[in-house]
Amino acid sequence: MIPQIEPWLDEEVLRQLTEVVESTWLIEGEKTRLFEQKFADLAQCQHAIAVSNATVGLYVCLKVLGVGEGDQVIVPDFTFIATANSVIWAGAKPVIADIDEKTFNIDPAGIEDKINERTRAIIPVHIYGQSADMESIKVIAKRHDLFVIEDAAQGIGVKFLGRHVGGWGDAGCFSFYGNKTITTGQGGMITTNDEAISRDCLILKNHGRTEKGTFVHQHIGYNFCFTDLQAAVGLAQLSKLDDILSKKRRNRQLYKELLADLETVHFPTVDPRCEDVPWFTNILVNDPHALGEHLKVADIGTRRFFYPLHRQPCYRGWWQDEFPVTDRIYQHGLSLPSSATLTEDQIILICQEIRKFFRMREKP
Ligand SMILES: Cc1ncc(COP(=O)(O)O)c(C=O)c1O
Repeated sequence: MIPQIEPWLDEEVLRQLTEVVESTWLIEGEKTRLFEQKFADLAQCQHAIAVSNATVGLYVCLKVLGVGEGDQVIVPDFTFIATANSVIWAGAKPVIADIDEKTFNIDPAGIEDKINERTRAIIPVHIYGQSADMESIKVIAKRHDLFVIEDAAQGIGVKFLGRHVGGWGDAGCFSFYGNKTITTGQGGMITTNDEAISRDCLILKNHGRTEKGTFVHQHIGYNFCFTDLQAAVGLAQLSKLDDILSKKRRNRQLYKELLADLETVHFPTVDPRCEDVPWFTNILVNDPHALGEHLKVADIGTRRFFYPLHRQPCYRGWWQDEFPVTDRIYQHGLSLPSSATLTEDQIILICQEIRKFFRMREKP
C-alpha cells in the first residue's frame, strides 16, 4: 500500500528520544526550549511557544488578543474544520469567505464584504503549503483595525515575498500532527514578534504562570503544554527539514512531468510571490471520487479535498451565502500520495495507474 501521507522517521528520532527517556525528564523542559528556539529561527520570528496542538494554539491566540463573546472572525470556507472550531470555542462567531480559484486560499477581494462592527480578526490559512496573499490581507486588517492570526498548520517552510509565514500577522500557529511537513505526533507552535502576546500565550498554556514549579497563580490558565518527548521527535525532524522540503518539491515536479500531456489533469497555480511547499501534491480532475476509488484498488492512497465549512453538517444553518469557488474546488480536487518517503518508482507507478484510469474512461 502506498499511503497518501506518512512521516519520515529515522535513527535520529530514536537517538533524541533515548536521550529524553534516559534523562527521565519527559515533560516540557530544556528540549522543548531548544525546539522552540530553532523553530523561531526557521519561522523568522522572535518568539515561538510550543503547545499541545495547533487547534488550541489558535484558541490561545484568540483569547490572548481578547477575541470572544459577541465578536466575529473571518476565516476561509476552504480549510480543515479546526480553524473555525477554535473561533467557536473562544466564544466568537466564524464568518466564512470564499477562496481564490488559483491558490485555494482566502480571496482578499471577498473579505471586506464580510467585515462589520463586530469583526475583530482574520484567520488566513496557508492551505496545502501555499501562502495566503498576506500583502493584501495586512492592508485590509490595518484599514479596519483587525488582528491577523495565521493558520500556518500546513505552512512549515512556506515563504511569502521571501519571508516565512507565521510572522506576517499578530501571531501564527503551526501544526506537528502526524501528517504534517514535520511531526511530533500531536503538537503545535505559536509564533509571534510581539513580546506581550508571547508572554500571555505562555501564561494561558501553562496554568496561568510563566514558570513551572510555582504554585501561586496570578491568572486563570489552562494546560496546553508540550512534552520533551515531542520536542525530541521535533528536533530530529527539524534536522532533516531541508531534505523533507526538497523531496516534497521533487514529488510534485515528477508528477507534473509524468502527467504533463494529460488534458484531464490540472495542477494548481502557485502565486509567484510565494515560495510554497507542496505539503500535499494536488490535482483537479473531473471525477476525483472515481479516480480515488480506482487508485485504492491498486493499493494507492489518496484523499479528497477538505469539505467546505458551509456544507459541514455540524454548522447547518450558520451561513446563508453561496461559496461557488470553494464548492467547485472541492468537487474536483484530489490529493495524491505526497510523503517525503516516496520513491521515484512509486510515483511512476502511481502515474501509470492514473493514465490507466483515463484510458478506461475514454473507451467507447
Ligand atoms: C488548516 C489547519 N488548521 C488547523 C489544524 C489543526 O492542527 P492540530 O491537529 O495540530 O490541532 C490543522 C490540522 O490538520 C489544519 O490543517
